[in-house]
Amino acid sequence: MEVTFTQALDLLKRGHVVAIPTETVYGLAASLEHPHAIEEIYRLKKRPSNNPLIIHIHDIHQISQFCDGLPPLFNELAINFWPGPLSLVIPIKMDKIPSTARAGLPTAAFRIPSHPITREIIRQSTPLVMPSANLSGRPSATHASHLREDFGVSLPYLDGGVCDKGVESTILVYKDSQWQLGRLGAIPLSKLENLLGYSIKQLGDMSKPLCPGQHYRHYSPKAVLKMTKKIPNTTEGVILGFSDRVYPMRAIYLSHSQNGDEAAHQLYAALRQLDAENIEEAWIDGNFPTDGLWETVYERLIRACLKPHSIQGH
Ligand code: TXA
Ligand code: MG
Repeated sequence: MEVTFTQALDLLKRGHVVAIPTETVYGLAASLEHPHAIEEIYRLKKRPSNNPLIIHIHDIHQISQFCDGLPPLFNELAINFWPGPLSLVIPIKMDKIPSTARAGLPTAAFRIPSHPITREIIRQSTPLVMPSANLSGRPSATHASHLREDFGVSLPYLDGGVCDKGVESTILVYKDSQWQLGRLGAIPLSKLENLLGYSIKQLGDMSKPLCPGQHYRHYSPKAVLKMTKKIPNTTEGVILGFSDRVYPMRAIYLSHSQNGDEAAHQLYAALRQLDAENIEEAWIDGNFPTDGLWETVYERLIRACLKPHSIQGH
């Protein structure tokens, strides 16, 4: 059910879960001060309880209440990329953050979103925990209509239009005296490396991921997807492709083949369109660049291609 800004604020303050827009994807928000609402998020999303949430704050000064000290270059990262799509995982004072929000870990992820509505809600209420507002394993929601697809009409949501970035925040984790990559996202790694002055290592691998969320199949429509660089010569089926190319079969376009920002922006809506049309199998045109946000788009598409549960349990 669509709610106004004032209603969303009031519901959050009273301990309810509300879906709200951010510049990356829609988030399923609960107040950090309402542990029952945080539990409700896990129930609604069908999210495994060992997968912690990101804490969204309004102002960098709020960080000091949660942590004893900050890792090197934290301030530089925050000053350059906040408000914006960067989440930073750091050690915390455990008694300051409900265990449910951080899946019992001694660390937590923080970010200041740049969406003006979200920031204003946080400013007028409390820090909010917000996973992406999709059922666990499904593509994230970038339009208000995606919220209704996953949660039906009873979930209160604030419609902020189409999310600008279209993919989630980049996550950096401070570990072993370095910032390491927890998840590719809406800020290209090269921009972060320029600031840090070193190349960012991947935290863990697929079999031993650093971010618990990376254990699970993700971003997946129901269709079986196959990425290929050699486009099959058939008129049958559907391909996720690029608007400046001609394909023998019907195409659902992500973007122009040189525009990684647009591909990221359209990605989840395109994956969800496959479900809306009950498509069971689709090709993905794998001929696209590797720089900038293309790296994130590639990673999300590869995960969307994985068979159910092929990551989980490793
Ligand atoms: O753009 C975004 O980040 C969106 C919007 C709503 O802000 N949120 C989002 O949240 O993508 P979620 O819950 O879908 O993904 C959060 C990721 C998960 O993979 C989780 O494992 C990781 O952050 N994470 C959270 N806390 C962590 C921690 N303490 N250590 C390692 N990973 C953590
Ligand atoms: Mg998510």
